[in-house]
Amino acid sequence: MLADFVWKAHHSMIIDNVSDFTHAYLHRKFKPFTDAKLTRLETIGDQVQVAYDTKVGRGRISGLLIDREAVNTNSMELCYEYPYQWSNTDDKIKSYCFVLPIDAQTTRAFFLFYFKGFKVPLLPLALPRWAMDPILKIARHTLVRPLLQEDGDAVEAEQDGYNAFWSAPIAELNPAVHAFQDLTIRKWEEFLASEGGGEQRVRLPVQQAE
Ligand SMILES: [Fe+2]
Repeated sequence: MLADFVWKAHHSMIIDNVSDFTHAYLHRKFKPFTDAKLTRLETIGDQVQVAYDTKVGRGRISGLLIDREAVNTNSMELCYEYPYQWSNTDDKIKSYCFVLPIDAQTTRAFFLFYFKGFKVPLLPLALPRWAMDPILKIARHTLVRPLLQEDGDAVEAEQDGYNAFWSAPIAELNPAVHAFQDLTIRKWEEFLASEGGGEQRVRLPVQQAE
């Protein structure tokens, strides 16, 4: 399943958002993840690897379709594998997020989702393959796009906040987000270094919340 959006936000804000599970409240209606606890955070080369213990897909609609007997929905692995992001729930549910910067504050974001299978709602039966496509089509409009648009609204508000208070300290509590930002900045600096010579660019100091 593919969903794409154009959001008025810097591409790094979208990358930061999709692997940051501290915003369950934003998604309180759809509950894609709840009670998240960061269990792993490691930067290896151009990857920031993250894992959370969390309850995956406990919303009203997703809870009906996801077979919790067959899929371990108690944890999720995520990775910012520059320049894109992916997630994996028990090798049964996978997602990818790709960002296409349009300008400094506009980004087209592409989300790809893979589901190994669904179950028949209220019954312990696997949904047949032929029934997956129409269900995915309905889920795309009733669940996935509205859920992702919540992230879109959040990153656009974050961009507005940055524009108004860009010199204020960053109020970011999730250490994973700092690791994502470090990787993005490092790749940008590597790019500038590869350009060589030219005008000298100076990195602005970053203030972080205590
Ligand atoms: Fe989100």
